[in-house]
Amino acid sequence: MGRPLVKRLGLPDPPQLKRWREGDPIVPGPVLISDGPHAAALRQLYPAADADRFHALIFDGTQLSTPESLRELYDFFHPVARSLTPNGRVIVLGTTEVNAAQQALDGFVRSVGKEFGRGTTAQLVRLSSSLEAARSTLDFLLSAKSAYVSGQTIAVGPPRESYSEPAGRVALVTGAARGIGAEIARVFAREGVHVICLDVPAAGQDLARVANQVRGEALQLDLTSADAPSRLATQLKSRRDRLDIVVHNAGITRDKTLAKMDPAQWDAVLGVNLIAPIRVTETLLAQGLIDNGTRIIGVASIAGIAGNRGQTNYAASKAGVIGWVRSLAAQGFVANAVAPGFIETAMTAKMPLFVREAGRRMNSMSQGGLPVDVAETVAWFAAPGSASLSGNVVRVCGQMLLGA
Ligand SMILES: NC(=O)c1ccc[n+]([C@@H]2O[C@H](COP(=O)([O-])OP(=O)(O)OC[C@H]3O[C@@H](n4cnc5c(N)ncnc54)[C@H](O)[C@@H]3O)[C@@H](O)[C@H]2O)c1
Repeated sequence: MGRPLVKRLGLPDPPQLKRWREGDPIVPGPVLISDGPHAAALRQLYPAADADRFHALIFDGTQLSTPESLRELYDFFHPVARSLTPNGRVIVLGTTEVNAAQQALDGFVRSVGKEFGRGTTAQLVRLSSSLEAARSTLDFLLSAKSAYVSGQTIAVGPPRESYSEPAGRVALVTGAARGIGAEIARVFAREGVHVICLDVPAAGQDLARVANQVRGEALQLDLTSADAPSRLATQLKSRRDRLDIVVHNAGITRDKTLAKMDPAQWDAVLGVNLIAPIRVTETLLAQGLIDNGTRIIGVASIAGIAGNRGQTNYAASKAGVIGWVRSLAAQGFVANAVAPGFIETAMTAKMPLFVREAGRRMNSMSQGGLPVDVAETVAWFAAPGSASLSGNVVRVCGQMLLGA
C-alpha cells in the first residue's frame, strides 16, 4: 500500500539503509580526517586511505572559538561534500564550552544531515577531555549500527572506569516480550550480556520465547502493581548480587485529546512509563542491586521532545523520563536515554494508514526505523567503553522533522 501512495504524493524514495551484521567491519570504508588537535590520535584509530570516495568525514572543530574560525568548516567540507559513499558518515568534534562558534557546529551538523541524503548521517560529538573516552561513541557513529541515528549532539564526559568485565555483565530489560525490548535482549545477547527479560504475566509465552532465544531468564511482573519493586528486588536477589545494566523499556500509549481523556488513561500511561521506572530504580538502589556504576537507560520518545496531539499523557511521561535521567546523571549515576521516532513495531502498526505513512517519511531517511536501531543505540550506551556518557538523550528517529 505504502509505495504507490508515496509515488502519487511525490515523496522522496527512501535510501536503503545498511545495518550492521555479525562479521562486518566497524568502519567499512576510508575515513577523511581534518587537521586539528585530535587529528593524529584520530588517524591512529582510523587509518587514512588514499581514496577519492569516503565512508566518513571527520572534522575536528575542538579548536574553533571565534565566528571567523568557522570558515574552516566550509573549507574542509565543501570540496568533499559529494565524495561520500551511500550510508556515509559525517562527524564533527566540538567541545562542551558555551560560545557562538561551538554552538554553530550544532546547526551545521543538523543541516548536513538534512542535505547529504543517500543514508548519510551527521553528528556532533562534544568532548570534555581526551579522545579516548569517545572511542566507543566514534565507533558506534561510524558503524552501520547507527544507521537510523542522525542530527544528534552527544556529550562525552571525562574518562570513568567501567565496573564489570565485558564477559560477565548482567542486564535487566523491561517490556522484553516483543518489539524494541525483545530486540534489545537479542543485541545484548550478541554482545555477551546475560539478559533478565521482564514483562507482564499476560505476555508470558512471548517472554519465555525471547528469554530462551537469548539464553537468558524470564521474569513475569506487572511493573505497576504496588509491590512490583519489592517483588522484583527479591526475585533478583535470589539470582544475582548486582545488575550492570537496567533498561526501562516497558511502555504503553492511551491516546486521546485531553478533553476526552479519562483519568484511568492518564494514570496508566504515567504509571508504566514514568512512575514504575523511578520506583523500581529507587528500590534496586536501596537493596544494593544497582549503584553508581550501573548503566541506567531510559526509553523516552520524540513525543516527549516535540509533543504530539492526543498524547498529553504519553508526552508528559516521556519528557519526564528525560528529566529523570538527567537528574540521575547530575547525581553521579551513569544514566542516559534513547528517544525513538517512528519505529516499525506493533505500537506503530496500529496507526491509521495516512498517519503511519506520514510518520514514516517525515525524516531525513524518508522511512521508519527498525527495533534493532534502538537496540544498537541502547547497546552502545551499555558498552564497557561508554562509561563516560551520562545525561545524554539520543534520538533514534532518522532525524525526524518533529522537534528537530
Ligand atoms: N514503536 C515506536 O515507534 C516507539 C516510538 C517511541 C518510543 N517508543 C517506546 O519504546 C518502548 C518499546 O516500544 P514498543 O514499540 O516495542 O512497544 P510494544 O507495545 O511492542 O512493547 C512494550 C512491552 O512493554 C510491556 N509492558 C507494558 N506494560 C507493562 C507493565 N506494566 N509491566 C511490564 N511490562 C509492561 C508490554 O507487555 C510489551 O511487551 C516503549 O517505552 C515505547 O513507548 C516506541
